[in-house]
Amino acid sequence: NEDNLKQIISHSKEYGFVFQSSDIYDGLSAVYDYGQLGSELKNNIKSYWWKAMVQMHENIVGIDAAIFMHPETWKASGHVDAFNDPLIDNKDSKKRYRADVLIEEHVEKIRLKIQKDVDKGINKFGDAFDKEQFLATNPNVLRNQAKIDDINDKFKNAMNNDDLAAVKSLIEELGIACPISGSKEWTDVKQFNLMFSTEIGSVADSANKIYLRPETAQGIFVNYLNVQKTGRMKIPFGIAQIGKAFRNEIVARQFIFRMREFEQMEMQFFVRPGEEMKWYEYWKEQRIKWHKSLGMTDDYYRFHDHIKLAHYANAACDIEFNFPMGFKELEGIHSRTDFDLKQHEKHSGKKLQYFDPELNESYVPYVVETSIGLDRMFLATLSYAYCEEKLEDGSERVVLKLPAVLAPVKLAVMPLTKKDGLPEKAREILDSLKFDYYCQYDEKDSMGKRYRRQDAIGTPYCVTVDHQTLEDNTVTIRDRDTMKQERIAISELEKLLKAKFDL
Ligand code: GAP
Repeated sequence: NEDNLKQIISHSKEYGFVFQSSDIYDGLSAVYDYGQLGSELKNNIKSYWWKAMVQMHENIVGIDAAIFMHPETWKASGHVDAFNDPLIDNKDSKKRYRADVLIEEHVEKIRLKIQKDVDKGINKFGDAFDKEQFLATNPNVLRNQAKIDDINDKFKNAMNNDDLAAVKSLIEELGIACPISGSKEWTDVKQFNLMFSTEIGSVADSANKIYLRPETAQGIFVNYLNVQKTGRMKIPFGIAQIGKAFRNEIVARQFIFRMREFEQMEMQFFVRPGEEMKWYEYWKEQRIKWHKSLGMTDDYYRFHDHIKLAHYANAACDIEFNFPMGFKELEGIHSRTDFDLKQHEKHSGKKLQYFDPELNESYVPYVVETSIGLDRMFLATLSYAYCEEKLEDGSERVVLKLPAVLAPVKLAVMPLTKKDGLPEKAREILDSLKFDYYCQYDEKDSMGKRYRRQDAIGTPYCVTVDHQTLEDNTVTIRDRDTMKQERIAISELEKLLKAKFDL
């Protein structure tokens, strides 16, 4: 819930995961900075993705394309003409909203009414309650479902016909009020392009206008033949990339879920025309497996098939995650056909065909893409991991139960006291491990306090050096989740860490 999101925001700030950008100037809306632990977590997510996508697939290679691209790229891709949000202003509050989101939120309220009726039925009839039958026959439910269908139809029609006046009429007809002022006085709806632009070179002239890329994918499309030829790639093959993307988003109240500057981890998979649906299914399965391999429970994920397809796709779905705000898009899997490559052929005048030696023919490949927001994955991981626990002795702890491979700090090494040579021994252990694992040294405060600090940042192991260590070269190792301690030989430490953290 929203309170949960607030806790995560404040925890992120308190422990150096995420700060608002330009904090001393009171921040910049929908832009965030990653702190000392956030950047570690982010790097670990990137590396986990890169290993799974590039290192584990012989037929996938990675690139790192520039953020700036030739402006014609975005005409070809359709972003100049079609990458728009319909916006509406409230005349009273002067606040600007996305018209589609206002309508979506209205529909969600009606959906909640249906859910309330269902809950009542469950309370009343328990196991005997037949949900399917109830949804199909209850007059209240049917009326509300008809309302939802009607709104969705009207909205879809209006958008498909570029009829922005009809979108405004729909908002008025539904009596949607400004969430801030409660006023129902709206301006006309206008299309607003989401791309940021700037000028290249020293002359501010429209001929020099270039865009900050709104998706990383186009850097892959324009390079696909360079990579195919120099890497001697054979279809099917993939190109992966991690990098920044920029969108001038209007809705900006959900922390790092929707940002203006964010990072994508994308992979474009080039296939024979006609084989795209097979690969689309393949990548759906691969990607959900990747998510579940991190150990977050299955009920946190669901697929959502797109009914309304983007201009470039013939099939598309999202992997949704149960964020504190509810189930929302985390990753998209899209069958993009040959739309992008064909468009680039048209706009560049260059042939972008692949010669298939097995078929002995040339064609423009079809593309299946997987596209995940790094920042969203960060939020998913952090919100899943955040726990407030009551302990047996009545005290409380905040613990981040992060997947071990993603934890920023893998191991904390702590001398029991600051004297008798214990710090030196602890440093010796740390020095022998720090090349392979990010370790922290901590000798301040009581052991209890030190454990709490490590719990709060999700450190899987704490190793304590005590007087016995000096005698027999053993240490205690404490597990973050069970809080159990075990005595082991220093010489065994490396093996144990390897088993826990190596993939
Ligand atoms: N190349 C395809 C593409 O860009 P998209 O659905 O627009 O598709 C892909 O974006 C992913 O990028 C989303 O699933 C989401 O995780 C992430 N994303 C998109 N817009 C974002 C934003 N404003 N802030 C953070 N992440 C965003």
